[in-house]
Amino acid sequence: MTLIVQPDTSSIQAAAESLAAGQLVAVPTETVYGLAADATNPAAVAKIFAAKGRPANNPLIVHVASSKAIEAWAKIESNWLRNVCQAAEALWPGPLTIVLPKRETIPDAVTAGGPTVAVRVPHHPVMQQLLAACPFPLAAPSANRSNSISPTRAEHVAQSLSDHVAMILDGGSCQYGVESTVIRPTERGVEILRPGGISKEQLQQHFELAEATTLITEAVSDKVQDRHQGVPNSSLPSPGMLSKHYSPAKPIVFVDQWNADQVPARSVARISFSSLSADEASRFCWHRAASESGDLNQVAHQLFDFMRQADNSACQLIVVDRCVRTGMGAAIMDRLDRATR
Ligand code: TXA
Ligand code: MG
Repeated sequence: MTLIVQPDTSSIQAAAESLAAGQLVAVPTETVYGLAADATNPAAVAKIFAAKGRPANNPLIVHVASSKAIEAWAKIESNWLRNVCQAAEALWPGPLTIVLPKRETIPDAVTAGGPTVAVRVPHHPVMQQLLAACPFPLAAPSANRSNSISPTRAEHVAQSLSDHVAMILDGGSCQYGVESTVIRPTERGVEILRPGGISKEQLQQHFELAEATTLITEAVSDKVQDRHQGVPNSSLPSPGMLSKHYSPAKPIVFVDQWNADQVPARSVARISFSSLSADEASRFCWHRAASESGDLNQVAHQLFDFMRQADNSACQLIVVDRCVRTGMGAAIMDRLDRATR
């Protein structure tokens, strides 16, 4: 049985005790809900992989209360790396994750046997209070079954993971609605492994970006995934960027890929990024505008919830808008590229 609980001092303390006892707790963050465990407890971390059906070769993000806590878990020994971490102070707490050389204090289960650990300082007040109540960092992937849509509301978590968690702390709907930006510092500059809540344009204000980023392409990732299925592996830059991801159960296409002769509007769930005329909207079996005005922060905030609602509608096909690939648009299009494959 699942408990969606309102966060207050006593429920947050109870969550910290469940985590200390090796159980999983679903937590709100400013990006998406996370499925948290004590990052120093390999048995607890193993429960995350089992609950999500996540391949063991896909490492987890470790969440800490403040950047000061990072050096207990990661090695920041060279000057260039120290400079990157200092620059990150401007964006932390917030939706930024940095891949760093790991210390022995982080078990291999968290990093999929690899030599690096991804760390993030989240700013959601409930997550901050929980981290303050825990004498350990929290390993937490998004709180969804592997390859499905990340949860942005407590109810989304309850729909798929209720049998696996001690409780779900309800922090309301997540502000950003897309996951954190994952970066990897190198001596040549910072590489973006996953576009997310912090845009490339924001990163450029604080870091030297490496020219070629190493986003895994679909062709490469499928081969790599086949070869490494279930095998701990440190050679993938960011194993989570595999091709099929963020998928609703129903087929989903961009609006320009939709053939209305094959699937008429009355069988389509339509997600637009600005308002449609009443006439146009009424043609569809279901319609929501993620923003009235095309504001991409609003679109990101609503997108995953609307993808779930569209999936649950009577539609045969989900049809979604495209947007520019700048600012928040880069993360939105990254997720939709994966969903529409
Ligand atoms: O916003 C977020 O980042 C959310 C919230 C809960 O913090 N978490 C999240 O976790 O999205 P997850 O597990 O769904 O995605 C983490 C991504 C994956 O693509 C994973 O492969 C990558 O980060 N990652 C984790 N550790 C890594 C490492 N050591 N090196 C490279 N990539 C890593
Ligand atoms: Mg995820």
